[in-house]
Amino acid sequence: MSHTPAVEAVGLRKRYGTTDALAGLDLVVPSGTVHGILGPNGAGKTTTVRVLSTLIRADSGTARVAGFDVRTQAAHVRSRIGLVGQHAAVDELLTGRQNLLLFGRLYHLDPTRAARRADDLLNAFRLADAGDKAVRHYSGGMRRRLDLAVGLLVAPSVLFLDEPTTGLDPRARAEVWDAVRGLAASGTTVVLTTQYLEEADQLADAVSVVDGGRVIAQGTPDELKADLGADRLDVTVRHAADLPTAAELLGRLSGADVETDADRMRLSAAVHDRVGALTEFLRASEDTDLAIEDVTVRRPTLDEVFLTLTDRTEVPA
Ligand SMILES: Nc1ncnc2c1ncn2[C@@H]1O[C@H](COP(=O)(O)OP(=O)(O)O)[C@@H](O)[C@H]1O
Ligand SMILES: [Mg+2]
Repeated sequence: MSHTPAVEAVGLRKRYGTTDALAGLDLVVPSGTVHGILGPNGAGKTTTVRVLSTLIRADSGTARVAGFDVRTQAAHVRSRIGLVGQHAAVDELLTGRQNLLLFGRLYHLDPTRAARRADDLLNAFRLADAGDKAVRHYSGGMRRRLDLAVGLLVAPSVLFLDEPTTGLDPRARAEVWDAVRGLAASGTTVVLTTQYLEEADQLADAVSVVDGGRVIAQGTPDELKADLGADRLDVTVRHAADLPTAAELLGRLSGADVETDADRMRLSAAVHDRVGALTEFLRASEDTDLAIEDVTVRRPTLDEVFLTLTDRTEVPA
């Protein structure tokens, strides 16, 4: 692991018309780590990846990738990175192996070396059996694994993955996660964008939450949960008729919005003083003769943290 960060970006700005796609984005990714750029649609994730991979230039700000300036040393950056875009670049009519050889030519790999590399990658991504089948017969997960293999042809020191599992079913997603974990274990720095909180939680050593073209929170998944999300008090009532009274009580003592899950007769709200809130709620429910089935205090989920941060009413699809 080298001491030069794999990515170091300061104050990146990029404007399209009147839209600030990037509005002063800062990012540091230590070498050898997996970094998640987590944000809803339109947050600026793809623009960030494009700037860092030298596909477009920022209007202002600076960025170094693998130690090189993306603006003045773009060729050096390009020779050290891999990029798997949001939309697959592989050719459907060709086989997996042919695709790898084609990209090998694009990267000026020597043909013998490219053939060996293709074999290695097909094996590594469990595509050896499918290597000589046309990609149009691949499942979603197999295609994405082939995308990853293409991104790794030149053994990059930094691999950018733009929403690697968007649109995949849970099983294919799990396969891609395994592949990313394998890469990370072999020492590749991985920068991945995602709209899925669970994905960041599963894969990333550190996460930058991006919204409106800037980083609005940063840390390990656990730090984000601990620092930014207040604890939650969950209350289950015994009788559905008690829900409104219990909700009013919980709202008053937490000073926060109360979520109601009527089917499970459960209420939930953010609280700052976990023990105080718990005891106060129990005392008040006794005074008002509320029949309480269960009360628990818990850490927020990453989803709840994300919703709080981006102030959105629903998780992006
Ligand atoms: N080439 C472009 N032309 C105009 N607007 C763009 C372009 N690329 C991105 N944008 C806008 O910049 C914002 C950030 O986009 P993007 O980086 O693609 O977000 P994300 O990948 O997080 O969904 C969005 O509002 C998007 O519409
Ligand atoms: Mg995008």
